Amino acid sequence: MNRTKHALTILTICAATAALAHGGVKDPDVKARMDAMSAIGKATQTLGDMARGKIPLHQAKARMARDTLSLNAAKIPDLFENPATDPKSEALPAIWEDWSDFAGRAETMEQAALALDFTDRGTLSTTMRDLGATCGGCHKRYRIDK
Ligand code: HEC
Repeated sequence: MNRTKHALTILTICAATAALAHGGVKDPDVKARMDAMSAIGKATQTLGDMARGKIPLHQAKARMARDTLSLNAAKIPDLFENPATDPKSEALPAIWEDWSDFAGRAETMEQAALALDFTDRGTLSTTMRDLGATCGGCHKRYRIDK
């Protein structure tokens, strides 16, 4: 398996765990940040499917997914600012102990989303790999590994 394929597989796994996770979340701030992450997960999955050729590379849909990613990335600092908790939350306390690093990672994700290039499947795969690194990097430090 080459590196791009591997990265895309990881992305699909990250995106797929989304839908099930947040039924029954009571805290509204936790729900809002999980909803934003779910939207990020879905958009990532759409672009990953296009990069793999599972669905056609559709320019307008790709742009919409890119916008979902960049807009939600820009909201991450506001969404996580309040250290709200919920039994279903996967957020680690390190977020608020190392806030500037966390917020910086959101910014890096936003830049990677804006840099997505859907000229063709090749450019999309390459730029998706950079995006995927920003998801994994942040989750590794700040999200419970389930
Ligand atoms: C700045 C840090 C950060 C970045 C960047 C980030 N995430 Fe997250 N993500 C989190 C944290 C923290 C949680 C756990 C939130 C909670 O449960 O309260 C999370 C949760 C999720 C969830 C689960 C949502 C749910 O419903 O429980 C998905 C899916 C997800 N992220 C996908 C992604 C993808 C895909 C990317 C990259 C395109 C990404 N994330 C980038 C920090 C980040």
